[in-house]
Formats: sequence, structure tokens, C-alpha cells
Amino acid sequence: EKQLTLRGKKVLITAGPTYEPLDPVRFIGNHSTGKMGFDIADAAANLGAEVILVSGPSHLNPKHSQVKVIRVFSASEMYDICHSCFQDVDTVIAAAAVADYRPKVVATQKIKKNDETFIIELEKNPDILASLGEIKKSQYLIGFALETENEIEHAKAKIVKKNLDLIVLNSLNDEGAGFGKPTNKVTFIDKDFNIFPQELKSKEEVAKDIVSKIVQHYEK
Ligand code: C5P
Repeated sequence: EKQLTLRGKKVLITAGPTYEPLDPVRFIGNHSTGKMGFDIADAAANLGAEVILVSGPSHLNPKHSQVKVIRVFSASEMYDICHSCFQDVDTVIAAAAVADYRPKVVATQKIKKNDETFIIELEKNPDILASLGEIKKSQYLIGFALETENEIEHAKAKIVKKNLDLIVLNSLNDEGAGFGKPTNKVTFIDKDFNIFPQELKSKEEVAKDIVSKIVQHYEK
């Protein structure tokens, strides 16, 4: 029987939330724990891949000792690290919950509470995955999509917009899927718009399924 392997492949994975600084002590963040990305990193390393895991603030650690973790704070730091690694990797899996916006101005001193209301102006963060899609050569690019309506259509649009090879769609309509949960129910959609709905599984199992998709790609 053939062995599943990713030996010789370099895999870049993003995970976790990003924290967008407002001043030296405050930030805007989200509830991502990073679990999906850390589980994917372990699953890929278990198949022999060389794994670089770029993670926003997360309490997690990889279980596999060979996963190289680079910890970042903000989306722009994650962007820089991903671009510095990209030419060198074979596969990218973007599992991070990157903040869409960041404070336009980051105060150098702690902001004082003076006024009754306080308005924060935000500017768009760069889309890390889309920026990699624009410059990709042979890299196999996997993104995630979390949608609440017209899921399949939105996910297909994201494949095109970000130049992806595969998208992992998780629906908020599915019980047991999403932030902070140990389980996930996903649907894979490839760039030819083939749709592969999956059962509700542990995130470890979903991670193995994602990594098998990469193996299948390299076997073709
Ligand atoms: O467009 P949307 O945020 O729904 O896309 C989600 C996918 O894009 C995820 O794979 C996420 O990691 C990635 N992404 C990114 N940089 C951003 C926003 C999303 O890499 N600024």
C-alpha cells in the first residue's frame, strides 16, 4: 500500500487571530484560538513536511517538535513574514483569522480617557492570502472561508479573487463548527469548483483531511 507522505515539501501555515495595536497597551482582536492552524501544522509535520507556522497571538504550541513557529502580533507583521518565506515554499494554508481593519493611527503613548466618546478610524489591512495568490508560481494555495449565507457562491468567488487551488468552507449555520469549538464541519471546493462536503469531525481529523488533499495534489 502507498504511504501518505509530504516528505521534501515545505508548507507555510498561518494561524490564530491578529491583534491590531491602538496604543502601547491596547489592541483590536478577535476570538480565534489558532487551533485549526496548529492542528494542520502537526498533521503536515506528521507526514514529513517541513512546516513553518506563522501564528498571531495564541496560547497553543505545536505538538510536533519539528514545526517551526514564528509568532507575530498584527496582520502587517504576518504579511511581512509570509512574503519573506513565500518563494521558498510549496504549499500555503491560510488558516489565520486576520483582522480586516486596523487603527489608522497607533498612538505612541497610552491614550487618556478625556472625552465622553472616542472615535477610532480604521484602515483596511492587506489581504495576505490574495497578495500571495497574485505572485504565486507553482505554489498550492489553500484558503478558508467562513460564511453565513450563499456559502458556496461566496467561497467560489473567493477562489477566483484570491487565485486559490482549494478553499475550506465552514458555515456558521452548522452546529459545532467555528471559533473555540473542538469540531468543525467543512466543505472543500477546488479551483475547478468540484464540491466535497465533509462530516462533522474533530479539528484534528479536519486537519488530516486538508493535508491529504495536498498529498493527492502532489500525487497527480
Ligand atoms: O476574505 P476572507 O477574510 O473571508 O478570506 C478568508 C481567507 O483569507 C482565510 O484563508 C484567511 O486566512 C485569508 N486572509 C488573509 N489576509 C486577510 C484576510 C483574510 O490571508 N487580510
